[in-house]
Amino acid sequence: MANVVVVGAQWGDEGKGKIVDWLSERADVIARFQGGHNAGHTLVIDGKVYKLNALPSGVVRGGKLSVIGNGVVLDPWHLVKEIAQITEQGVSITPETLMIAENTPLILPIHGELDRAREEAASKGTKIGTTGRGIGPAYEDKVGRRAVRVADLADEETLIARVDRALQHHDPLRRGLGIEAVDREALIAQLMEIAPQILPYAAPVWKVLNEQRRAGKRILFEGAQGALLDIDFGTYPFVTSSNVIAGQAATGVGIGPGSIDYVLGIVKAYTTRVGEGPFPTELQDADGQRLGERGHEFGTVTGRQRRCGWFDACLVRQTCVTSGVNGISFTKLDVLDGFETLKICVAYDLDGKRLDYLPIAAEEQARCTPVYEELPGWSESTEGARSWADLPANAIKYVRRVEELIDCPVALLSTSPEREDTILVTDPFAD
Ligand code: GDP
Ligand code: IMO
Ligand code: MG
Repeated sequence: MANVVVVGAQWGDEGKGKIVDWLSERADVIARFQGGHNAGHTLVIDGKVYKLNALPSGVVRGGKLSVIGNGVVLDPWHLVKEIAQITEQGVSITPETLMIAENTPLILPIHGELDRAREEAASKGTKIGTTGRGIGPAYEDKVGRRAVRVADLADEETLIARVDRALQHHDPLRRGLGIEAVDREALIAQLMEIAPQILPYAAPVWKVLNEQRRAGKRILFEGAQGALLDIDFGTYPFVTSSNVIAGQAATGVGIGPGSIDYVLGIVKAYTTRVGEGPFPTELQDADGQRLGERGHEFGTVTGRQRRCGWFDACLVRQTCVTSGVNGISFTKLDVLDGFETLKICVAYDLDGKRLDYLPIAAEEQARCTPVYEELPGWSESTEGARSWADLPANAIKYVRRVEELIDCPVALLSTSPEREDTILVTDPFAD
């Protein structure tokens, strides 16, 4: 298999960063294809922690080409800061190792302001709990055909025209929300100032990736967020503003769908969610608290406590279908160590009717109650296990039951945040 897409199969934070970093050893190019710096991907290598938002997780390994595709929305000021931070940690980033698609839309300061103003103005039950980083408004401008894109930074006249077009939309909107009009001159000056720091990385990514593909190089696509935050298939409207599912990998960089050979879904051994919205297996008891504490479930981007609950096989079975998942990477199994009993949601009860999928209507989603199956836990530690032989029998039973219920095999198993604490079952890159 030449090209592998990694996607989150729940509500994000499944451990994509760790797995992308681990798999990047086998790849030549690592490409982000959607989302923005709302993503928070944590890598732990020999005890050293790296936190990435916009940069692909392959940058840390060195010697690979990292790509930010057109499907991403990019905050240039944040990127420059992130590059500086990661460089300080000893990682080298140059225009030879990082490329940004010229047609990538920019996140401007006005997008973050709008995002936060809307959230503040939202009444109870309508707040989304966004990261406040301007992701939604930036994608709105992209489809509204008024985005400033990376290539526009190269020519002052074009840049000014693009800014004016955007402000025609934003100023009236801001007035309605009680925010002062945009300082046009200051925004243009800010963009002109950041331009020389971004432009060296700008490239025709679609063309470069095509050349790489033809030369037999292996491309690893790094998804952000999770399939249940997908703008079409997620728990709308409590979702992010991009397509998250695997099909987006092709449009998000400009390759044909036939170039995707394997889809690896990243699946956490239990369920978490940051922000608002339905969550059928959410636990508000000691078990939920225990999952949060053992799993260190705090958001990387906003520091918010993640909501925790039992594994929901119904949801993952569904997201494996919408992303065409070939195999999963099952992560954070070690967090379940020491539970006497584990529960898995196998179906929902909706007004006395049994459903084997999550209905699309928000009010029905909210009324779905989980139907659980119970499995015995294990008292032994799985932390740091590097082979199946190291796993207790009940942990293996749990994994096998998950495979059956989601109708998808486990390709990788992760047992700690450390890069090497990973069990390989089937190599996604193997022919
Ligand atoms: P991502 O957004 O999908 O990349 O996931 P995050 O990095 O936001 O959250 C996953 C967290 O779990 C990070 O702090 C990882 O270091 C950590 N992690 C990843 N895999 C494992 C694992 O198998 N066990 C444990 N205990 N932690 C893990
Ligand atoms: P990674 O890549 C978890 C959530 C936010 C909010 C909703 C919309 O680390 O898995 P947005 O700022 O995107 O408009 O917020 O989506 N969200 C994430 N939750 N992991 C993420 O990324 C997320 N990115 C966005 O909490 O509920
Ligand atoms: Mg994360």
